[in-house]
Amino acid sequence: MDKLLIEGGFQLNGSITASGAKNSALPILASSILLKDKLTLSNIPHLNDITTMLEILSSMGAYMTFNENMDIEVNTSLINNLKARYELVKTMRASILVLGPLLARFHEAEVALPGGCAIGSRPVNLHLDCMRKLGANIDTSNGYIKASAKGGLTGANIEFSQVTVTGTENAIMAATLAKGQTKITNAAKEPEVTDLIKCLNKMGAKIQGEDTDKLIIDGVRELKPTNFSVMPDRIEIATYLTATTMTGGEITVKAVNPNTIDKVLQKLELAGAKISKDKDSISLKMKKLPSAVNISTAPYPSFPTDMQAQFIAMNSIAKGQSEVIENVFENRFMHVQELIRMGGKIELKGNSAMIDGNLNGLTSAPVMATDLRASASLVLAGLVAKGITKVDRIYHIDRGYERIEEKLKLLGAKIDRISE
Ligand code: UD1
Repeated sequence: MDKLLIEGGFQLNGSITASGAKNSALPILASSILLKDKLTLSNIPHLNDITTMLEILSSMGAYMTFNENMDIEVNTSLINNLKARYELVKTMRASILVLGPLLARFHEAEVALPGGCAIGSRPVNLHLDCMRKLGANIDTSNGYIKASAKGGLTGANIEFSQVTVTGTENAIMAATLAKGQTKITNAAKEPEVTDLIKCLNKMGAKIQGEDTDKLIIDGVRELKPTNFSVMPDRIEIATYLTATTMTGGEITVKAVNPNTIDKVLQKLELAGAKISKDKDSISLKMKKLPSAVNISTAPYPSFPTDMQAQFIAMNSIAKGQSEVIENVFENRFMHVQELIRMGGKIELKGNSAMIDGNLNGLTSAPVMATDLRASASLVLAGLVAKGITKVDRIYHIDRGYERIEEKLKLLGAKIDRISE
């Protein structure tokens, strides 16, 4: 199994290019099911989660080719199997994103129920409720969601009781081909939801209200083939900027949309980083130890839960005390025990982590990744720890960070992937 070996204590300097956003690419790939033709996508990152989505689509009868620009062309005209199998779904919860598009186009779908997850129970009740609102019959038995809508889906008013990103995306995709109008309130406003809306509208969908929590969707009969470039990965970008705030140095991340990470940038500035934004790049300079910052996670535009673990790593070596409150997921502190093993002074109280910055710094240890963002926080801790940190189970990190060791090496980090 692959592991990362990181020798801590080196500053990060130089420039890297951001990858395409995983959380935008996944729903956009699922949306190809809505089309009886070809969707051409660029800036799709090479990640295990993307491979899983492509495997699900191929298992249904879609086929993919790469054109001369290495854009991926997904052709879903011959889909004939409406089932997403457990063997694939269990490795990635976002597989639930095929439910809405399958129901919308074929009026039928069978999707394995995603199981538990390291960061909380993560139910899919809100996804199922909105499919029912749109007229689907849903039966969950033998570990599968079996959904059908004889005669097709019909527009409805959907009010989410809680903000859900993939739930909103599933509702949007389902409503795109439903008869009549759908109104969604308390919709997620994450930039990845907006990216999906932009792609669908380019295909001929009629969706209004992007970037707001009220969406109005007028169902259309069919969508047309198009091409689309996926937005940059704001969490990947924010992770490298946080890493440099910890190690010190000066980096530029190119091919970014700086406006999608305002909250994170504000917090990094509070920690002491000097940040400058250009149209499509962000530069960060850090010449001292970071100062501790409090954060409280919530849906966009607030501070993203996907950056919480990295900020706990930063606060562990920062000057001062801080509180990190996790409001989105019930159990997203699995990285804390590993950071404590590296010398972090962190105490958990319910959904808060109280951190006392350790000015002696962290020390290396063999540590275990438990989920995607937790593993990123351990890599960041390894970059500043004394000695060589070995991060195990890095398949989690390969789900969401494209060539992480190569990008960090470009910036001057001492990091290697080994197989043992
Ligand atoms: C998405 C992101 C993930 C990010 C999360 C929150 C993708 C592929 N993943 O996950 O990286 O951490 O948003 O920004 O885009 N909930 C329910 N019932 C449901 C659905 C959700 O109770 O049916 C709860 C969840 O348990 C959680 C909260 O709602 O507590 C928000 O989860 P949600 O926004 O749905 O997360 P995902 O879309 O799975």
